[in-house]
Amino acid sequence: MYMELAVRMAERSVGLTAPNPPVGVIIVKNGEILSRGWTQIGGSPHAEIHAISQVRNKSLLRGSTMYSTLEPCSHRGKNPPCIDNIIKYRFKDVVISQKDKNPLVNGDGIKKLRSRGIRVTQSNFNNYINKFNNIFFHSINKKKPHVCLKIASTADGKIATKIKDSKWITGKRSRMMGQYLRSKNDCILVGRGTVEKDNPSLNCRLSGLDHSSPDIFILDTNLSLSLNSKIFKLKNRKISIFHNCSNFNKKKYKKITLIRLNDNPGILNIRKVIKLISGKGYHRILVEGGSKISTSLLKNNLIDKIYWFRASKVIGGEGIGAISNLNIRKMNLVKKFKLEDSARVEDDIMDIYTRG
Ligand SMILES: NC(=O)c1ccc[n+]([C@@H]2O[C@H](COP(=O)([O-])OP(=O)(O)OC[C@H]3O[C@@H](n4cnc5c(N)ncnc54)[C@H](OP(=O)(O)O)[C@@H]3O)[C@@H](O)[C@H]2O)c1
Repeated sequence: MYMELAVRMAERSVGLTAPNPPVGVIIVKNGEILSRGWTQIGGSPHAEIHAISQVRNKSLLRGSTMYSTLEPCSHRGKNPPCIDNIIKYRFKDVVISQKDKNPLVNGDGIKKLRSRGIRVTQSNFNNYINKFNNIFFHSINKKKPHVCLKIASTADGKIATKIKDSKWITGKRSRMMGQYLRSKNDCILVGRGTVEKDNPSLNCRLSGLDHSSPDIFILDTNLSLSLNSKIFKLKNRKISIFHNCSNFNKKKYKKITLIRLNDNPGILNIRKVIKLISGKGYHRILVEGGSKISTSLLKNNLIDKIYWFRASKVIGGEGIGAISNLNIRKMNLVKKFKLEDSARVEDDIMDIYTRG
């Protein structure tokens, strides 16, 4: 039960903790919950320290048990090692759901706590929290962050009319869910086409979550986007552009991070883009798919999850398909996904697919 609560705490901070993973903690003594903690915005303080800081009378911590969704850290980064405080306040037990596969920790936290007489047990709580932590492990160890694609299409799979009109395909509630997805990811990735046609702000305007609009990455090979687009006028948002230009006016891009890929002429290497985003400490990427970017990602088998909102509307053959040509000739080569969930959202259907 306590670990289940710790998982709930971790879920609170999903999308807000990059470059650190979202972790949840519950502190218990004599069957009573003393405190709850979760990783704070930007990854500091860590969940363990947040939970400890909630307990005013620190002497109460002596002999208590900490339930954590991840092994406490033993290294000094932006934050001091969490184990130092666990040792200092003389916890009796630490129950973790999973060892931290970050090479900087990797069992070292467990070892050091045990060497100071603190009992550490692993509860193997359930698959869910492992999947949850694995997103972080994959990203830091393999530079493969979790890529979630959001598509809003008509029933016949079109994301815009032939003149690229797309406002609005799905209903208000689906669009609100789209904003919620933004708040649950570390960053958003979009192509030049979408910024140019839709002029979006890509923020989360849901009440209470307006602080959760993530950083933005744009693919703009030739730096041809106008800096008058709304996106470049947003306050408190970090914007980065991947490009392949050698000759441009640097002064124009003062507030924007430019990342030059040095690719051969043509579109940017999407595999490299995803790797670089992960290397910058973003582990959950939401792609708001125009057709070209969605197709690139699918071709390269980079998509882990799709939220596909489908309206009860039909555009017809001349509309722009959500996914363009994948050049698949045989059924055994189709891109396979598992339908994880499906729900009606007003007049739309939301299907959630995971990598097959
Ligand atoms: N309904 C929805 O869910 C939804 C969501 C988003 C967009 N849309 C609609 O989709 C349309 C835009 O789609 P789109 O396909 O034209 O554009 P897009 O996928 O948003 O952007 C594609 C552009 O990104 C750049 N790019 C660079 N490297 C790339 C790579 N490896 N893979 C893909 N793109 C790369 C290219 O422009 P450069 O060569 O100039 O770099 C390319 O033309 C608009 O009409 C918009 O309204 C609909």
